[in-house]
Parts: sequence; structure tokens; C-alpha cells
Amino acid sequence: MLVSAKEMLKKAKEGHYAVGQFNINNLEWTKAILLTAQELNSPVILGVSEGAGKYMCGYKTIVGMVNGMIEGLGITVPVALHLDHGSYEGAMKCIEAGFSSVMFDGSHYPIEENIAKTTELVKLTNELGISLEAEVGAIGGEEDGVIGSGECADPDECKMIADLGVTMLAAGIGNIHGKYPANWPGLSFETLEAISDKVGAMPLVLHGGTGIPAEMIKKAIGLGVSKINVNTECQLAFAEATRKYVEAGKDLEGKGFDPRKLLAPGVEAIKATVKEKMELFGSVGMA
Ligand code: 13P
Repeated sequence: MLVSAKEMLKKAKEGHYAVGQFNINNLEWTKAILLTAQELNSPVILGVSEGAGKYMCGYKTIVGMVNGMIEGLGITVPVALHLDHGSYEGAMKCIEAGFSSVMFDGSHYPIEENIAKTTELVKLTNELGISLEAEVGAIGGEEDGVIGSGECADPDECKMIADLGVTMLAAGIGNIHGKYPANWPGLSFETLEAISDKVGAMPLVLHGGTGIPAEMIKKAIGLGVSKINVNTECQLAFAEATRKYVEAGKDLEGKGFDPRKLLAPGVEAIKATVKEKMELFGSVGMA
């Protein structure tokens, strides 16, 4: 059964570890992530961007697939199905379709409008027992057509949004989606510390988990980050493993063209990436 992310993130914040949000793109992705979480006895959050939602033929298809897989694979660890960087309308659609968690990304609105829309969603999600992530300070980089310029959030604005009663808060601290450029100055721990001081027990979310050095991840967790989003790294791992398979001519050997064989190395590569992240985040054994 799908669960809200509230309980798992409260436990993570108290226990000084983070739960990974791994974005899904199709059946193989979902299966790889769920199996790894189960194997490692770790809670997990499946992230779905609006673009991935369209790609997978709508939110209802995804809810059906994930619920079916939880039953079919015998998954017993806590799993939250979460809309990533949702619009207000997207969040409403996911709630209707049966998601257990949504993000409303109002970071591109003036703060008053972000507050107004987030307030409405706090009321609705609280009534339904669904977790809600809000965002202050756009995350840099490009993700599914959502382009953020990469800023450091204003700690006072973070406090305003946290006080609305959201479940978790994403705040820009110099992090960006996708690969980090060679001249990236790193996370702004000064900003993170100032935000943490203001928002107290509120679990903080670190987007753009791909390519952040392990030491920075650990430091961020120590300063109150309880959810870390990873997307690109699984895509890179999948693409590399698939390329190797094809370049080695394996698709031309016997029935190597069978999608169940062709996609298998990619699935294993996603599993290995998810395992590495869960170990780094400290969520192993915390289900
Ligand atoms: P990456 O693609 O950089 O891992 O970021 C994922 C993310 O933050 C999803 O919201």
C-alpha cells in the first residue's frame, strides 16, 4: 500500500538520515527501485515529474502500475508515490488519481502567490492524509522543460512557507538538476544552516542529488536534509549499461534483442545506483 511521506521523513529527520526520492520513467525504473528498497529494507519515494506523467500515459496508469507492483512483488517497505515539481493543476490531478504525496512548486511565483496556492493545498492534502512538498528559491538547471536559475532561498520566506503546515520543504541552496558544471561552487551550507535554524523540525528536501559529492551529502543531512532527489544519475547508469550491451553486439546474439534481455543490464545499473544512494543517505534498514 502506498503511504504518505510524512512518517518516513519525520523518522529520517529525527534519526539524522535521508530518504531517497528516485524519479521513475517506466516499468523497468519502478521495478528496479522498488526491488532495491525491499532488498535493503529502506523506505523509498518514487518521484514522477509532469513530463514523466505524460510519458507514462497519465497519473492513473502510474498509480495502477505502482500499486500492482507493490502487490505483485511483495513490497512491504513504506513507498510514497510523489509528484515532482508539480503545478497547482498537476497536484490536483495526482491527488485525484491516487498519489500519496505531491509537490507544489510555486518557487517561480511571487512569494504571496506561492503562499496562497500552497495554503490551499495544505488544507486539501491534510484532509486526505497526503504529504505535501513546497519549494522556495528555484533549483537551477533544466528538468523536463522546467528551467530554474539556481538561487539560494531566503530563510525568512522558507519559514513563512514551512509555517503553513507543509510536510517537507525544498529550498534552493545552490543545487541544480542534472550534471553539475566543472566550475560549480558547491552547496551553500551557510544558507542551509540559516534555513534549518528558522524551520526547526521541518524535513528539508535536497533536489539535484546527481553528482553532489558524498561529503557534501553527509553534511547536508547533518544540517536537516531528510529527503534527497535523484533522477539523472539513474538515467546515466541505465544509458551506459544499455550502450555497452549494444556495443558488445549482445543484441545480435541469440535472442539478445528480446526487450527483457536488452533492458536487463540497464535495470541492474539502476539497482546499483539506488543501492549506493540508499547506503550514502543512511536509509538502509530504516523501513
Ligand atoms: P537530478 O536529476 O540532478 O538527480 O535531480 C533530481 C531532482 O531533483 C528531481 O526533482
